[in-house]
Amino acid sequence: MSQLNKVPFFRSAVDESDVERVSSVLRTNFLTTGQVTADFESKLADYTNTGFAVGTMSCTSSMHLCLIAMGVGPGDEVVTTPMSFVATANVIFHVGARPVFADVDLDTGNLAPEQVEAAVTERTKAIIPVHLYGQMCDMEAIGEIAGNYNLHVIEDAAHALEARRNDYGLGSHSNAACLSFYATKNITSGEGGAVVTNDESLADRLRTLRLHGMSADAADRYTGLYRHYDVVNAGWKANMNNIQAALAIGQLERIAQLHRLRINAYNFYHESFAKVQGIALMRRIDNLRHAAHLFTIRVDPDVRDAFLHGLQERGIGVAVNFRPIHLMSHYESNYGCFEGQYPNAEAIGSSTISLPLFPGITIDEQQQVIDAVADIAAELG
Ligand SMILES: Cc1ncc(COP(=O)(O)O)c(C=O)c1O
Repeated sequence: MSQLNKVPFFRSAVDESDVERVSSVLRTNFLTTGQVTADFESKLADYTNTGFAVGTMSCTSSMHLCLIAMGVGPGDEVVTTPMSFVATANVIFHVGARPVFADVDLDTGNLAPEQVEAAVTERTKAIIPVHLYGQMCDMEAIGEIAGNYNLHVIEDAAHALEARRNDYGLGSHSNAACLSFYATKNITSGEGGAVVTNDESLADRLRTLRLHGMSADAADRYTGLYRHYDVVNAGWKANMNNIQAALAIGQLERIAQLHRLRINAYNFYHESFAKVQGIALMRRIDNLRHAAHLFTIRVDPDVRDAFLHGLQERGIGVAVNFRPIHLMSHYESNYGCFEGQYPNAEAIGSSTISLPLFPGITIDEQQQVIDAVADIAAELG
């Protein structure tokens, strides 16, 4: 599309103070994992009210390392949702286990606990729920299933840094929650991620697994007298570095303000779209703090693509989150997945459109989006 979007899908909230923090790291000559990463991890553990945070390269590597740390591998099954970005299922494939999908609730897109339980077999080792768009799954119910069948739970919290439900937050009904600081996420380090957990031994294992399985990182080896390292397992290369941490740390300090702006924008869309004919909204769950990562509408599947193109033609940035994972060729051909298998995920996947939502979006920009949606709905309706 040659025309520049009048309202981009995403605009970063990185400001001059973040640029300054990154510049100051660049001037120190210590660019890899070090004190700034440790400071970021400590602030992240505080913010999420968890015992430990381990910075990584991505949410994908975080989930992958968690599965390895928990010993999930060939012959095992992991129950997850088809309504997610493909990374959630790919990591299961990459440890040699089998992803087993369970359908979602149609009105929220989150894993339906009763479907999770129905998908558990004697080979199941773990559950990966995804807090879709920023609303936390029913972690009490999922945690109870895990307890009954002795399963690990890894939350895919890529959308859900700020989320809470009832009186609980990330990591309270799971072994670990994995975060994303990808370019368009609620806070960003360009690429980046983290695991937050209350399990100290898991955090320790993740720290070695993220860096080749080495018993000492660069900060340990090169500050003070040189210390030799051992390799205690065949680890990966997935450590968060000081540059990434410096970019994200100021956003984490401003998170209450950034989140308030997202919620305000989310609420404005929600109220405005309630009056527009021809579109449906996802249900907001009661007693929940929404991370407001994505705002989506649902339209008639027969006109969804025309709707997407109509928005683009009017200069509105759009995305689709998500086409269901089980209908991707890799999953159809490797696991025999087929259309009709997870009707709710498919219904969302064929009708959903994500609209621009970011902290700096103006009322005027939102009004342009709302008018464009109403206009197209009337035209196609
Ligand atoms: C639900 C979900 N899980 C995982 C990921 C992967 O995150 P990352 O890019 O940090 O690996 C994404 C990224 O978009 C996502 O939306």
